[in-house]
Parts: sequence; structure tokens; C-alpha cells
Amino acid sequence: METWFNPARELDALLRATAASTPGFDAAFNPEMRPADPRFGDYQANGILPLAKAAKTNPRALATALVEALQKSGQLDESLVVTTIAGPGFINFTLTPKFLDAWLVRYADESAFRAGAAQLYHGKKVVIDYPSPNTAKQMHVGHLRPMVVGEAVARLLQFCGADLLRDNHLGDWGTNFGILILAIKRSHFLLDAKNENALEDLERLYKEGSALTKADPAALDAARSELAKLQGGDPENTALWEQIVAVSNAACQEIYDTLGVHPDVTLGESFYRDKVGQIYRELTDCGMAEESDGALVVWHDDHPRFARTAEPSQPFIIRKKDGSSNYASTDLATILYRVEHFHADECVYVTDGRQQDHFQQLFLTAEKWFKATGRKLPSLRHVWFGTILGEDGKAIKTKSGDPIRLKALLQEATDRAFAVVSEKNPDLPEDERRHIARTVGIGAVRYADLCQNRTLDYTFSWDKLLAFEGNTAPYLLYAVARIHSIFRKAGLPFGAGTENPSPLETDTEIALAKKLLGFSLALDQACTELRPHFLCTYLFELAGAYSSFNNVDDSAVRARRLTLCARTGTVLTAGLRLLGIEPLERM
Ligand code: ARG
Repeated sequence: METWFNPARELDALLRATAASTPGFDAAFNPEMRPADPRFGDYQANGILPLAKAAKTNPRALATALVEALQKSGQLDESLVVTTIAGPGFINFTLTPKFLDAWLVRYADESAFRAGAAQLYHGKKVVIDYPSPNTAKQMHVGHLRPMVVGEAVARLLQFCGADLLRDNHLGDWGTNFGILILAIKRSHFLLDAKNENALEDLERLYKEGSALTKADPAALDAARSELAKLQGGDPENTALWEQIVAVSNAACQEIYDTLGVHPDVTLGESFYRDKVGQIYRELTDCGMAEESDGALVVWHDDHPRFARTAEPSQPFIIRKKDGSSNYASTDLATILYRVEHFHADECVYVTDGRQQDHFQQLFLTAEKWFKATGRKLPSLRHVWFGTILGEDGKAIKTKSGDPIRLKALLQEATDRAFAVVSEKNPDLPEDERRHIARTVGIGAVRYADLCQNRTLDYTFSWDKLLAFEGNTAPYLLYAVARIHSIFRKAGLPFGAGTENPSPLETDTEIALAKKLLGFSLALDQACTELRPHFLCTYLFELAGAYSSFNNVDDSAVRARRLTLCARTGTVLTAGLRLLGIEPLERM
């Protein structure tokens, strides 16, 4: 029996394999492995009960048969994992101190964790689509989540063994360009990408244009026809489009740098302009797309909301009335490209929850289209998130009702953190305080976004996210800095344990060791569901378990505890990095 990285997953597999050749079970048996009530063990298999109920047999007898078969198989070393049967037929597993000691030796640094976690995605080719903003405007607070959530999910996938490609699918070919081009033409404005205020100019023009198109249906038609002209290759509109793209990309780049977002490729909607024709053809040929009011649409009569009879009806429009492509057509072409060029086994899309219908229709359409054309469909996953709310419970805005600019928000985070750090540590040199403030401030904004289940809305509160108490980045960063200082004082490199630590003894030591091992389960949950908050909750609990343990004077105990302390530092560091936060050595 190897020193398993994630015992829950291994025990689950072992039970399934054993059940397949045990009378009364079949290959479909699901052990329903979960963390156990700590009084009875570490993991519990609950799956026997429903099986016994369905077969009208005695669950306890079934559990006994399975445990006996497991013991006979010789695959479980009882000096490492103790198995017991509890109640009506639950199977409990308890890790022995010997297992924990071995685990702490084997999983001693980030690369060992990475190797252990790699089994989850082992080499799967995953294309992750983020932050994918619509260009032609400044980034505002609504652009925060795709970057922060996208980056954390990307790092998690990579850590767990995925062969990852980050694709920034810019919205650079849609309605907003029609509006902007119209506004530029009407105001005879000369956009100059080299001008310092070019982005403000664009923003103002976009506001003018959208006010115009909202007030006047004729202007809306004009904007649509500017977009159709652009998509048809009109030279004047193409030249304007190139300038707009240049201005907004430069502005986005600055924010990507601040938030550490580095796409491997940037293939925006415009990249697919010559690839949508094939989509219209194939979907029409396989009978999925039909003309409706001049547009090309796909209905899903097998779906309650996307069927033609649904109220209100919601066809998946893949070509507009005026012949222009749209979000749906470029997204269909994108799936094909990702399969053909990147050999994607999985595509992950990180966007706002308001796009759920789009992605459901997209995935349904791709599924049927790939089937009809004999292609293998990659797994398609929509990682959506809720809204950031202001203290008034509504989507966060400035006092004047405009969206908050992301650049200003991140600057404010750093400024506020600088004030806090300067108050706590007035003696540190100013550059160091500035460096700490950047990590703490931006880390705090990030962490506040990640620590809640992503599908919920959350309320943005400076006081809460910058607090040094509670489930926050400053709290975790401080825990890591304290561990650094222990090693500095001991004259040892950070994360160095003693060579052969004496075996774990006390309840608190064992509890902390088990918590450390919980990293594997947290990674598993976060990566399986693509929900980083599982990792945040875990790190917060680990820091708590650690703080209630510290400080002993006995030297033998001290040596052993130093190893636990080292591992805590290593796990917290690895975990924070996965969330996009680089821990500090002092603060
Ligand atoms: N540009 C879109 C938006 O800002 C997000 C694009 C997501 N990716 C995709 N392939 N649809 O809402």
C-alpha cells in the first residue's frame, strides 16, 4: 500500500474494486465515501445502506462481507488504516499515526503535492476560456470575477495535472463595435491610439452611442448596419475597429499585469470571422438549423425552455437577420477550433451567471451537432459566478451610478492596505511597506471573491476583506509570515523539517496532521467542482488548527512540531498561490 495522497479517493476505489467480486454487490456499487464523524474515524462509506434496502438484505452482513473481502485481498495495510463497522452497516476507516508520519515525510513540498494531486486530471487537455472581456470599454468591477475566479480555477486545474491552455476569447466582434463606430462617425472624432486619453475618449463615445441607440430605433438600425459592414470587410470600419481594439487592449493589459493574468492565446470572436460559414452550412445540412424571420436559428424541442413551443420562446440564433454572425455562431466555431487545433478534452468557460442560458443552448447544440457529424465532443463546463453587491444589496456602483473602474478599485485596495500596514509596522522601510500593501490589498480583494461559493452573490466590504481576523487574505498571509519568522529565528530555511521526526503523539499533533492531509481532499473538491472556495475554507481551518497548537519548549517535541509547522507553512503557501496570492515572508 503506497502512501496515498488522498486516502478518501483511494479507499473509494478499493471498495469499488473489491465489491465487484464480492457476492451481493455489483460493479456499479457506489461506496458514497465521505469524511466521517471524527469520533468514529476519518472516512465513512455509507453506500451499503441503500444497496441493502433495495435488495432487502441485512446491511450489517453485507458490510461484514465487504470488509472481510477487503482484508483478504491484502490491499489494505492494517498498521496504516484501521477498518471498523459501525451502526447498521457503515464502514469507517481511521488513519493510524504511522500513516500520518509517512504522509508528512512523503508530501513535504509543493512538487510532491503536485505529483500527488496530478492523478485527478492526469494530462487531460483543457482549454480554459477567461477573462474574455468585451473590449472597447474600460475594465470595471464586473471584470474582476472572470479574472480572479478564472485564474484560480486555471491554477487548480494545472496543479491537478491538466495540460492547460488559457484562451482569452475577447468580445471584439459584437454589437458594441457597431455602436462605437456609429458614434465615432457621427461625432467626426479622430481616435488616436497613441493619445494618453484614448481610452476615456472611447468610453465617452460608447456612452454617447449607446444613449443614441437606446433613444432612437433608427440609430440602432444604423449601428447594426455598421457592424454588418465591419463583418463584411468594409475598409473604413475595419480601420476604425483596429484602432478601437488597440486602445482597449492596451488598457486591459495593464490590469492583467496587476492581477497576474497571462493568457496563452488571445483568440477573440473576430478570429472566427471566416469560420462561421462552415457552422451555418453544417448545422443546416444536418437539419438542426432553420430560417426564421430571416435569421438562422436552432430549436431544442427536447428542452422545456428552448423548444419552439416554450413561452417565451428562446431560439438559439446563430445568424442574425442582417446576415451578421453573433455570440452563438462564433462560440460554435470556437468549440470546433479548440477540438481540431488544441485537441481539447475539456473546455471550461468562466463567465457571469446571466449567461447560463447561452451556455446551455451552446452545449446542447454542440452535443447534437458533433453527434450528427461523427465527432467526439469534449466535456463542456460552464463555471459561472454571481454578482458583486454594494452595501445597499444592489450590484455595486459608484455614487453617480456608473460602474466602478477596476483600476481605481485595485488602487484603493493597495492604498487602504498601505495605511493598515503602516499603522501596524511603522518601522519597516517604505518600499517594503508598499510591497506588502500590494500583496495584502490585492490579495484581500481576490480572496474575498474566492472564499464564497462562486455561484452566490457577495457583498463587497472593505472592512471585512481587509480584516486580520476571520476568513480573509490578511489573516492567512499573517499566518504564513509568522511561520517564516519561526524558521528565521531557528536559523533554518523555511519549510525545513527535522530529518527523522519522532512519531506524532498528542491529540493536537494528530489533529493538525490530519488537517494537513485534508489538503488533498480540499484540492479534490475544488478541482472536481471547479469551486475555489473549498480550498479557501480549508486553508482557513488549517490556519486555525495551527494557531491552537503552537509554542512548546520540550526539545524532542519541538523537533517533531517543527515538521508540522513546516508542513503548515508549505500547505498554506501552496494553497494561497493556487488562489493567485503570493505569500510574504514578513509583514
Ligand atoms: N465576452 C463575454 C462577456 O464579456 C464573455 C466570453 C466568454 N467566452 C465565450 N467563449 N463565450 O460577457
